[in-house]
Amino acid sequence: MLHLAVRAEPGSDFADAVLAGLAAPQKVVPARFFYDMAGSELFEAITRQPEYYPTRTEIGILACHAPDIAAAVGPGRAVVEFGSGSSLKTPPFLKAVAASAYVPIDISAEFLDMAARDLAAKLPDLPVFPLAADFTRPMALPAGIAARLKLGFFPGSTLGNMGPAAAVDLLRTFGDTLGDGEPLVIGLDLRKDAATLEAAYDDAAGVTAAFNLNLLERINRDLDATIDPTAFAHHAPFNADLGRIEMHLRAVRDTTFTVLGHRFVMATGETIHTENSYKWTLVEARLLARAAGWTPVAVWTDPAEMFAVHLWRREAARLEP
Ligand code: AVI
Repeated sequence: MLHLAVRAEPGSDFADAVLAGLAAPQKVVPARFFYDMAGSELFEAITRQPEYYPTRTEIGILACHAPDIAAAVGPGRAVVEFGSGSSLKTPPFLKAVAASAYVPIDISAEFLDMAARDLAAKLPDLPVFPLAADFTRPMALPAGIAARLKLGFFPGSTLGNMGPAAAVDLLRTFGDTLGDGEPLVIGLDLRKDAATLEAAYDDAAGVTAAFNLNLLERINRDLDATIDPTAFAHHAPFNADLGRIEMHLRAVRDTTFTVLGHRFVMATGETIHTENSYKWTLVEARLLARAAGWTPVAVWTDPAEMFAVHLWRREAARLEP
């Protein structure tokens, strides 16, 4: 059963972000611009690399512990997935928690259509209410699920691509969208040794490097730019002080280029910072939850403690004296 997608505002403007980011002392292009068609395909390929453990580890944890989640939250909730993408990995979760409806939220109407088609084949009786929206902004859920209990679902450690302050804001927004007392299942990558993390973000097959460098192709194509991609190399160190993998595009020689007629000069070794991927310990994740108005309820990890799936419950708003 499919209900029509509702369009909402797209995200911020690529040209403004790139021009402002390249003019900054530490050049930066926001990670959300990775995901054009080629970038989305490269990301899917990253998730299949042997070094990139998060996706398969989280799928394993959910496969093992979905019955525990179902027991903790009770059956028959409407599952609201923030940033659902193509949702291809969600049906087993929907089945395990006996979802009464599914609200995939994604900025890409194309992904939502794919998700709806896949679900219609796999779970034909599940009511699906796709919502084309920027999940980082407050939103009204479809009227069709207003009367149902809800379960937020935010897998993939997507929160990791935000800094702590933005992460707290986003988690508060999720709470406002879902309502007091409602639960959220969220996957967060765990902090671990630098070697494992750096390998995961610089796989031997060069897929993550291609994903990072594709951003330059996108800037060239969409912003009439003259960047020579061969003047850049992928660089992904773990910043232990800040608890995050950083992705950069590092100039391997002095280079000059224009973007929409604006000229930029980069010296050898200078970088464009393209992504952060924060890794939280279990204690840090609990603090993050509390700071954003959620109560930690339960957490499940794989035996090697590579990745964690958390269950939190939205606190009721408290009146202060
Ligand atoms: C989407 N996100 C959670 C991925 C991550 O692991 O931070 C993006 C990614 N970047 C490089 N590899 C994967």
